[in-house]
Amino acid sequence: MSAAASAQAGAQFGVAGMGVMGAALALNIADHGFRVTAWDRHPERIDEMHQKHGHPELKGTASMEEFVSRLERPRRILLMVTAGAAVDQMLERLFPLLSPGDVIMDAGNSWFLDTRRREELCKSKGLHFLGVGVSGGEEGARHGPSIMPGGPTEAYALVRPVLEAIAARTDEGLCVTHVGPDGAGHFVKMVHNGIEYADMQLLAETYDVLRRGLGLSAEGVADLFAQWNQGIAESFLLETSIKVLRKKDAETGKPLVDLVLDKAGQKGTGKWTVQVALDLGVPVPSIASALDARNLSSMKDQRVAASHKLKGPSEALSSEEKAQLAAWAHDALYAARVVTYAQGMRLIQAASDEYKWNISLAEMARIWRGGCIIRAKLLTPLREAFTRQPELPNLLVSDAFAPVLEKLSPSWRKLVGAATKLGIPVPVFSSSLAYLDSYRSPELPQNLTQAQRDAFGAHTYQRRDKPDAGFVHSDWNS
Ligand code: 6PG
Repeated sequence: MSAAASAQAGAQFGVAGMGVMGAALALNIADHGFRVTAWDRHPERIDEMHQKHGHPELKGTASMEEFVSRLERPRRILLMVTAGAAVDQMLERLFPLLSPGDVIMDAGNSWFLDTRRREELCKSKGLHFLGVGVSGGEEGARHGPSIMPGGPTEAYALVRPVLEAIAARTDEGLCVTHVGPDGAGHFVKMVHNGIEYADMQLLAETYDVLRRGLGLSAEGVADLFAQWNQGIAESFLLETSIKVLRKKDAETGKPLVDLVLDKAGQKGTGKWTVQVALDLGVPVPSIASALDARNLSSMKDQRVAASHKLKGPSEALSSEEKAQLAAWAHDALYAARVVTYAQGMRLIQAASDEYKWNISLAEMARIWRGGCIIRAKLLTPLREAFTRQPELPNLLVSDAFAPVLEKLSPSWRKLVGAATKLGIPVPVFSSSLAYLDSYRSPELPQNLTQAQRDAFGAHTYQRRDKPDAGFVHSDWNS
């Protein structure tokens, strides 16, 4: 134990896991005047943290026993370890050292059903467990993340002062609130990431259409994005795109983005969002298309080979189309983003109903307004829409967004048409538009689907002209 470490008495908060995010959160908490004790199983990480940051309120140890014994009771411990088995291992190590009433928070991107299970397990030992979604990357964790805690109300009350001190703040308040019981916080963080996937893909599609459709350079796209970021489309991901597009490679002087291999990775939260949406029967085509776009991008070798066999269209845009393409892209980006957020909100509502979480969608929009990756100007009218009409079946029919979608969708259709004409894939623009068109259609062709099901499998159907007759079967062969 170092002299500095042993000098610390009565730590008010513990952070376990001194990776990039854990260290940034621990420093943020210490900056706000809380005495923090930190643990990592690698002693060198603790030494590095002391050397790099040397914060008077932050002292580390590689001994789990010492870490726990330094903490004032009830102990408040935040785990920032890799989601999955590592969380369970940490709990097993902590259990014999903790006392009833202590609070454990899991701040990783954990699967919400694991969080439900862990909360039950902790409860059986007299301990509190909170599943805490944290967004904003390293910068957010260090200077103000958006925080989505889920778990027992009494446990949230014990950690609330710390979480409120470190969270991002906007004109709309602190970017933290008690999301709901058990897995609610991690569920909302997962959907946040699903929306993030779709929004990132929309920006990538916009960039592609502008580069290939108009022949713009990376810098040219950045200039356009910078103009857009002054208006309704303002968002952190748009700002990030501008920064990325302007970056030059030190070695070659080329835009660095041009040197990045076009294969997107993923850690799994987007996939979980789609999986759980399928389980709950909630359509999230924008998020699913974004996930597929990443999966397709990773098939680089096949794509290169296919490009020699499968020729695309040879049509070009007219000069009128070219003159309007950027304006169409701007409107399409905003409208498709609305549709994407609408799907995410629907999914949260469906899970909240299923698990009785009583989540406020207006509050989710408010805590996403700052600190997190999907923070965007759009979230302000979105919050207002759910505040005014909390029972909205879908954001698309809100008084705030229905007229906007009507106004912007002609441009959106033109954009999808132009991209299709050029053979440029715009999966999230197209699937989001199809969602809008399906949702606003009183008639869909699933009468044929039902008839087919009955014709080949006697699955029965309902008659429009005899609503009281229930499900009937017909002989389709005669
Ligand atoms: C955040 C991010 C964060 C992380 C994603 C990246 O809110 O701070 O969403 O959680 O960047 O996990 O996910 P992929 O690696 O799957 O793109």
